[in-house]
Parts: sequence; C-alpha cells; structure tokens
Amino acid sequence: WSHAALSVVVVGASGDLARKKIYPSLFALYYEGHLPEHFHIYGYARSKMSDTEFREYISGSLTCRLSEKDKCGDKMEMFLQRCLYHAGQYANKSDFATLSERMAGTEQDRQRANRIFYLSIPPSIFTDVAACASEAASSVSGWNRVIVEKPFGRDLASFQELSSELSKSLSEDQMYRIDHYLGKELIENLTVLRFANLVFEPLWSRQYIRNVQVIFSEDFGTEGRGGYFDQYGIIRDVIQNHLLQIVSLFAMEAPVSLDAEDIRNEKVKVLRSMRALSMDDVVIGQYRGRKTKSTKLPGYLDDKTVPPDSLCPTFASVALFINNARWDGVPFLLKAGKALASRRAEIRVQFRHVPGNLFRNRLGLDLDRATNELVIRIQPDEAIYLKINNKIPGLGLNLDVTKLDLTYRDRFEGHLPDAYERLILDVVNGDKRLFIRNDELDAAWRLFTPILKEIEEKKVVPELYPYGSRGPVGSHYLAAKHGVRWGDNLSEES
Ligand code: BG6
Repeated sequence: WSHAALSVVVVGASGDLARKKIYPSLFALYYEGHLPEHFHIYGYARSKMSDTEFREYISGSLTCRLSEKDKCGDKMEMFLQRCLYHAGQYANKSDFATLSERMAGTEQDRQRANRIFYLSIPPSIFTDVAACASEAASSVSGWNRVIVEKPFGRDLASFQELSSELSKSLSEDQMYRIDHYLGKELIENLTVLRFANLVFEPLWSRQYIRNVQVIFSEDFGTEGRGGYFDQYGIIRDVIQNHLLQIVSLFAMEAPVSLDAEDIRNEKVKVLRSMRALSMDDVVIGQYRGRKTKSTKLPGYLDDKTVPPDSLCPTFASVALFINNARWDGVPFLLKAGKALASRRAEIRVQFRHVPGNLFRNRLGLDLDRATNELVIRIQPDEAIYLKINNKIPGLGLNLDVTKLDLTYRDRFEGHLPDAYERLILDVVNGDKRLFIRNDELDAAWRLFTPILKEIEEKKVVPELYPYGSRGPVGSHYLAAKHGVRWGDNLSEES
C-alpha cells in the first residue's frame, strides 16, 4: 500500500475536533513515517480559505515532542506543504467533483489512489456528504473509506434512520465508526491482559468477581459546549458509547481470533445479553455553581449556551447486569460526570472476600478495604494495579493493603500515542478491530432508549451536586443497593 497515493479529506475542516485531534494525529503519523509517501490532506468546508491560510490555521495546533524540537521544524513544513484546502457546500455534488479533480492532480499517475473521508461534521449532514463523496469524489483505482463519529442518532429510531440512509451510499465495509475510547492504550490492552495471561481469565467471572465499576469523571464543566451537550446529556455523550464499549470488551468471551469480525461478534453478544434497564437502575445529576475563596465556579445553567430551565443530566450512574452464565448477578456500575473533583477514567474490579479468611481478625479493617481490587487506570497516568493484603514487614503479624503496581510512566519509556493517532492509522491499514459495528450500536441504543425516553418524558429532575464535588449522593445509594461501594471513594490513596 505504501506505493499507492493516499488522500485524506477532512470534511468540516475548521471544526474543533479537526483542529484539536485530527491534524495533530495526522502530523504525528507523518512524523513517524506511518503514512505512505504519496499522501495529501484536503480540508473541505464551506468558508473560503486559501491553502496558505489553511496551513496557518493547522500549524497552530501541531505540536512537537519537546526532545525533538530541533528536528521538528522541517518535518512540519514538509507536512504543511501536503495540506490543501477546498471550499465547497456539503450537499453539492459538483463541489465534490471539483475536489475529486484536484485530488487526482496530487495523486498524479500512481496506479492506485486510496481516499479517506473524515466526516468531522454534525450528523445532520452525514448523509448528504456521504452521498456526494461516494457519487462524485470516490477513487476508482483504490479503496474509499469513511470515518464517522458520534453522535449516531439520539435514540434507537433516529440511529436506525441514520444508519439506513448512510447505507444507501456506503457499504459496511467502507464505514469506520470511531469511539475514541477504543483507541486508548489501556483499552486496547484489555484483551491482552485477559487473554495473554493465565492468571486473570480464570478469575474473570461471577465466581470471583463481586462487581465491576467503570468510572469517568472530568474536573471541568461544559464550558461553552453546552449547546451541543444539552441536546444529548451525559448518558448519550459518554455512557451509552465509551463506557458501554469498555464493558463489552471487558466482559466478552474469548473471540475465535483477533479478527475484527470475531471480536465484534463477541462484543455484540454481551450488549445483547444485558438486562433491560429501568429507572431504578439509574441516578442522574446536574452540577450547580459554587463559590470558593478565590473564585466562583459556574453551574451548568450558568452556561450561556444552555436553556435556563434545562434538566439535562451532566452526571449519571447506571447499574447494568449481564444475563449470561459468566456474569449472572454481578453488578456492572457505570458512572460518568462533568465538573467533579478530579479527572480520571478507570475500571475497578472488586473481587469476592476470601472465604474463611484466617486473618479476618488481624486485618482490623473493614472487609471492603481488604477486598482485592484490580484497577485499570485509563487516564491520566495510565496504570494497572492490584490491591492485595500483605504483611507489614517487620516483627509481628500485621497486615495492610498494598499495591502490585504497573504504572506506565515508571515502566515504559516514550510517549503514548493519542487515541486518534492509533485509530486513523488503523483506517489507513483497514483494521477494523477498534471500530464499532452497526449491530453494536443497535444493541446499545436498544438498551438505553427506554430510560432516556422516560427521563425526558417524565421530566425527571436531576439531583444537584456542587461543582468540584464527588457527585450526587444518590449515586452512593444506587451502589449500596447492590452491596457496592465506589472504589474511587473508598480511601484517599485509592
Ligand atoms: C467525548 C465527549 O466523546 O469524550 C466529551 O463528547 C468528553 O464530553 C470526551 O469530554 C472525553 O474524552 P477524553 O479522551 O478527553 O477522556
């Protein structure tokens, strides 16, 4: 493939995602020599811009690693020379046709030309763009792949409509649906941890695992993004996609092989085995403003882009159950929130108590603390650690909880690639393991649509929590109902 030409069209060239993630990732891939020799980037959007202006726009977002600053300048210039801009309407075939002609120019006489269309645009125009790109700007001598990213609808019906419209112009084979959490290092490692080690998989079931927690928290609010966020809320924004994807990888059976279809066959089984959700399984919250000594932290409703009476949840906890032989009765507790005390994403696996524990009187601790817990910290500061009970070294027989600790920063050198870097490279290589299949989305929407409807129709009022707190108290009650304490709250040094 490295001899074929590659054109990457970023549709929605001046959007936030493009600037923050797509161009820097493409540059990092170029820098490290992962892109074919004959490659070009085309920015496509409605506003008029020259190539030079486009390059200036992009260059502000490209970064070099500190240690390599000296080598970076030239490469950046060479990269920018490959960036071109084409103005056009999103639903105009002839604009796409002229784009195609320009691309043919830079693809020169390569025998094969491959094209990637990255739809970094609102989903309301996915269908138009997909139709125009496929009819007027497809390569005839190589493959054409299209990257799309959530939101894939707002509920089951709108998802199905979008999906059937898109399928008129694109085959499943051509479509790469991104969930950027799948591109994170520790998530890709989940399959390795489970299936390349002997010690975890035998414990990976209801027999030994008491509960699984998937926790996402951010220490900032919507910050001007409220216009988008208010249409969706935290369940659609984070839980129905990122956290549910993590659960399906965590809980799936061993796939037949590492092929994308084999892995996704197993993931979709997990999603389809989930017990239907009811309102008893969900707690929602919304952050309110708070004054500190030095500043005033804004509430969600203070965001100018949010309606003043919005009931949109910025926090939610959900208790899921997987009705299959491996996981029957094990609560999977998902929690996601904005404007909380810290920024983190992690999976916490709490194991059962040791039956007839000989040391129970010595531990002098509550059993929750003495429980073995495996923590997979996705970010920040990637790590995998296992909390074990250990003798305190020295005379006497005193025990305490300590960690078997694999903190990436201490163990591995070099930087971890951004999720988008990994995912874009996978698109170039045609590897679909980390992309979502249509039937996974269908199952995910089937699970969440009924409660999303109920929350909206009944105008369920979210519990308020202060900006910078640990979220609404209701979330602790939800966990307690299932005999669980949130691991991130168990101790300060968690
Ligand atoms: C996005 C959500 O999908 O993920 C955002 O729309 C959220 O609301 C973001 O902030 C979090 O991604 P990351 O990679 O910064 O954890």
